[in-house]
Amino acid sequence: MRRIGILTGGGDAPGLNAVIRAAVKTAYNEYRCEVVGIEDGYDGLIADGRARVLAQADIRGILPRGGTILGTANRGNPFARKVIKDGQEVVEDVSHLVGEGFERLGLDGLIVIGGDGTLRIAHELFTRFKLPIVGVPKTIDNDLGGTDVTFGFDTALHIATEAFDRLHTTAESHHRVMVLELMGRDAGFIPLHAGVAGGADVILIPEMPFDIEVMCKAIKQRAAFGSKFSLVAVSEGARAKGGEQVFSRPGDAVYVPRLGGIGYKVGAMIEKCTSIETRVTVLGHLQRGGGPSPFDRWLGTRFGAGAVHLAASGGWGRMVGLRGQRIEDVAIADAIAVPKRVDPNGEPVRTAKGLGISFG
Ligand code: F6P
Repeated sequence: MRRIGILTGGGDAPGLNAVIRAAVKTAYNEYRCEVVGIEDGYDGLIADGRARVLAQADIRGILPRGGTILGTANRGNPFARKVIKDGQEVVEDVSHLVGEGFERLGLDGLIVIGGDGTLRIAHELFTRFKLPIVGVPKTIDNDLGGTDVTFGFDTALHIATEAFDRLHTTAESHHRVMVLELMGRDAGFIPLHAGVAGGADVILIPEMPFDIEVMCKAIKQRAAFGSKFSLVAVSEGARAKGGEQVFSRPGDAVYVPRLGGIGYKVGAMIEKCTSIETRVTVLGHLQRGGGPSPFDRWLGTRFGAGAVHLAASGGWGRMVGLRGQRIEDVAIADAIAVPKRVDPNGEPVRTAKGLGISFG
């Protein structure tokens, strides 16, 4: 193994640079192998001149930095790429260009750092074109199988928990209900974990459609017992029983639908049924931006090194993951087969319920 590529795809997550840094250092120190950084996800393989060998100078000082030094792309799916043809926007399969880019760069392997979407593409490229790819699981949502946890999740929890701490003091002072809408798509890990860590009284997650009456009763009961304020964690993907998820933008052939807006709906419902003044905060991309927590630096570093070792041993089509305390590997196909979700009957939800937290 003389030369491997590395790319980051999909939404950014704190810890990406730790993975890149560890991959470059490990590849050089242990295998005398150079690492080519590919810009903006798969886009950088399709177009010429958007990749460069990463030197020590490129990775200096990037460990605490958020985002990705390589850039990323949400619409860079080579199997369904949005292009303008005769003045019209159409979707094209340009996946064969990925292999050409791979050859052009003289790569012996490719490390793909991504979430569900990016790794699905990696799997397609591996099975259809036999491209030698290893995966690294990334997402703040923690919704990927094959690993106990993804990097980025811990940092998002820190930010969301701090938001609850700050909302707590103002809620208490004004005797208000504070609703906090959090990310996570169809998985409720961020609201559940940060909600418990931040002392939320109600947690609404996609895996457990909520009953408006039950949620309001919980808030009114708190008020009756003297707690005149409440904190409500709402997942962007949550929905009322018999209701639909709320989207701020519909999807199309390239983009998945964009979730957002349930927080305001829940806030209005609460104000109506409890008559308690309610305010809504949407934490949004603050959950993803900025530097990684120590845990995400640590996990990202171990994943980066692990991915290089996996590539060196010819573990193509596989992905590194954390199992207990160990970095192990799993087929990408298995990791993406079943999306990870909060178990409504699992211990974390039971623990939260035991604390008196309502799931509506
Ligand atoms: O998957 C990560 C994530 O931050 C989700 O939690 C959120 O729904 C989505 O990405 C937002 O995507 P975008 O960056 O396209 O707004």
